[in-house]
Amino acid sequence: MALDGTRGLICAGGEATRLHELTRVTNKHLLPVGEWPMIYYPLQLLQRCGIDEVLIVTGQNHAGDFIDLLGDGRLRTRDGASSLFELDLTYKVQRKAGGIAEVVGMAESFAAGQNLVVCLGDNLFEYVEAEPIQAFAGSGGGAQVFVKEVSDPERFGVIAYGDDGRVLDVVEKAGSVDMRYDAPPSSDAVVGLYCYPPDVFDVIRRLEPSSRGELEITDVNRVYAERGELSVARVEGWWRDAGTHGALAEIGELVARTGVNKLATAEVAGRA
Ligand code: DAU
Repeated sequence: MALDGTRGLICAGGEATRLHELTRVTNKHLLPVGEWPMIYYPLQLLQRCGIDEVLIVTGQNHAGDFIDLLGDGRLRTRDGASSLFELDLTYKVQRKAGGIAEVVGMAESFAAGQNLVVCLGDNLFEYVEAEPIQAFAGSGGGAQVFVKEVSDPERFGVIAYGDDGRVLDVVEKAGSVDMRYDAPPSSDAVVGLYCYPPDVFDVIRRLEPSSRGELEITDVNRVYAERGELSVARVEGWWRDAGTHGALAEIGELVARTGVNKLATAEVAGRA
């Protein structure tokens, strides 16, 4: 099903220094995870949500490799037997790793007044959150984020909840990026999948760089939280951030074992 009025963005820039030797001559998002280059997974996720106009923002180095790999977005398997993607791709270059919110800001003319679904290029999901994304697309404003409980919340953006369960704050890497907190206020990590209405670009224009010198997506989400306009949905199944060495092999095995970007079935809906 096509999702009218909504476009997709994949953030595939950054310097990937945590991958050391692996990213000397290529971009992290072109590295293999299982049988595919990493970037195929967020592309498949967006396609399965019904989004077919997608902007890929990457760093200056290796930008041409993305076009070599993906072309205009209409891609068949190498044996030509089946279609991988039927997307309409646009590309942009982020000159320096100025933060995820900077990348979202670069999508303003591409979004052209429509909603934007943003995927971090190194985040993989067992299930496609098609239902909340489609509900967001039909709603009249506000932002939608997704969370997953983790054992190491200090590595992520997390949600701070009030006693009544209301979202009070969103906190990026408590104690290292966001110094207002010594420790994460919850274990609910905000994952790399975000839905924004067209006013997100006004929010981004007012941001200041964080202590790590980046425009933080967490600061964008905090603005919506403070306005009471942030919806939080829980991700079903597994979620992985493929930003470290060990993760690439582990996630490849996980994908082979369980599948990836699966559309919810009646059985899955029953789990919720
Ligand atoms: O994985 C989820 C986490 O991703 C969230 O919980 C955090 O709130 C969010 O800030 C982000 O945290 P990281 O510090 O792990 O983000 P990282 O620098 O690894 O970048 C994530 C993706 O975004 C990666 O695929 C590269 C892309 N990126 C990143 C930066 C800083 C860009 O395209 N441009 C950038 O300037």
